[in-house]
Amino acid sequence: MTLENFVYESVSELLDGKYDAVKPRIEKHKDIYHDDTAICFSLLSLGAFLKNDFNTFYQFMNDASFLVDQSTDPITKIFHEMVLGFVNFTEKNTTLYSINYNKARKLSIKCQRTDFFEKLNSMLKCPPISHFSMAHNGQSKDPLLALVKIGQAVAAEKNIDLLIKTIAEETKTALNADRCTVYVYDKETDELYSKVATGLDVKELRIPADKGLAGHVLRTGETINIKDAYSDKRFNSSVDKETGYRTKNMLCMPIKNFNQEIIGVFQVLNKFDEYFTPDDEDLLVAIASNAGISLENAQLFEKQRKLLEEQKIVLDSFIETLATSIDARDKITSGHSSRVKMYAVLIANEFGMEQNDLYILEKAAALHDIGKIGIRDAVLQKEGKLTPEEYKHIQQHVEITHHILEKIHMSKDFQQITEIACSHHEKFDGSGYYRHLKGNDIPFGGRILAVSDVFDAITSKRHYRDKMPIDKVINIIKDGAGSHFDPLVVEKFLAIKLSEIVKVFCTENCMKIDKNDYETLEKYNLLDLYYSIVNNCSNKLLQVFNKYYVGVDLEHE
Ligand SMILES: [Fe+2]
Repeated sequence: MTLENFVYESVSELLDGKYDAVKPRIEKHKDIYHDDTAICFSLLSLGAFLKNDFNTFYQFMNDASFLVDQSTDPITKIFHEMVLGFVNFTEKNTTLYSINYNKARKLSIKCQRTDFFEKLNSMLKCPPISHFSMAHNGQSKDPLLALVKIGQAVAAEKNIDLLIKTIAEETKTALNADRCTVYVYDKETDELYSKVATGLDVKELRIPADKGLAGHVLRTGETINIKDAYSDKRFNSSVDKETGYRTKNMLCMPIKNFNQEIIGVFQVLNKFDEYFTPDDEDLLVAIASNAGISLENAQLFEKQRKLLEEQKIVLDSFIETLATSIDARDKITSGHSSRVKMYAVLIANEFGMEQNDLYILEKAAALHDIGKIGIRDAVLQKEGKLTPEEYKHIQQHVEITHHILEKIHMSKDFQQITEIACSHHEKFDGSGYYRHLKGNDIPFGGRILAVSDVFDAITSKRHYRDKMPIDKVINIIKDGAGSHFDPLVVEKFLAIKLSEIVKVFCTENCMKIDKNDYETLEKYNLLDLYYSIVNNCSNKLLQVFNKYYVGVDLEHE
């Protein structure tokens, strides 16, 4: 059963007065699914409240509030606010109720779980704030309260689409209207666009900036309050035609930025009780000034985000070009950098590495041997054994990698790329090069690259030797734990599924993995393969693995 269904069922039974029957089930759920503990405490507190057991209610509610604060799950947060709202509503604490209600609603819009909010709201039979305030207070909403709420709702919202949606939702509620559309002016196309028209299933709405009432407001800066839209010549009924909606009355107002330039238009439709009043106009003026600043901030933020994205694309292609140039230079190890990158990603995934760190690791892997550009051809492409002097020269590639990359000063992230890339020949016991770093002083990414680099080197065919048998390869990696390699990285590496390793081989030999083989390889990791060889078990697994590891080479020979 999904968590949502568990909540619906439990709430329904609690409302039916079956607290004693439901309680053991909720407690059992809480003990099995620790992630759901917060929501279970909210349920238990709701049950205790309905049973008029206020002492227990407060205890459960305290625990729930504490846990909900730590939780990142939106469902948990929405539900907790709704339980609090239900309690406040029942206790006739209207101000607190409206705060809980709006918080839950805003959260549900933000994480696109209005279905959960609406369903629970109808189960708990709490009226929407607009109806509630009209029915219970007998007067329109306190404009200050509405403003504070909109301020809260839009604070820190940097995603412009969500911001448009939130402002529209909040304004609709504040003005007790059926719909609200927030149009933003798109200078480039000279159009007004809205991502979401409240209540309509339209993803993006675009209208020419010189059409309709919204266009009129954009051009003139006037506020328009009309009682019958269809009797007004400026009204553009095409949106109604497109959406099947019938506009009756309308309040339309410009949205201005800090410099008083018009950047968009508010269009509030169909007031529930008669028409929009001058008080509504005043409230919308205040909302519009608040919304204008938020919208402009979000637009600036979006612009900056796009700029950064473009920079990232430039950086990515730059790195790609550099990485390709290494392969072009050193044909013997062609494809090495990209395979090292793939192995590094597999290890990082075993660690559950975060996206940004993974990005840095990938770039470092792609560039780790860039310093080979500075190595003489005669040495780099020598077919025979290297003399000690030549070996020393080739070792310099790491230092050269460092010098090249440190000159490309772009950001802190790039410094990390440099640090990781030039640590790939460091050894865990400090006997590596070129800075002789030891243990955890070697950047984590560098320790991952060390394993990936050696694994690819010894699993690749060289002109002077065939591919090394896989048990020998694994033995080298295993034996290197603690001396050459970080033991934890080795442990994670050996836990990688054979199917993933074989996928990397296939990027080189262009083989397609057979479905049955894939299923077999998916069940075992490198360590399993090692023990199956060492213990002389059925070598079926080895056969399947070798098909992709050495298969093509055998065919060629
Ligand atoms: Fe290297």
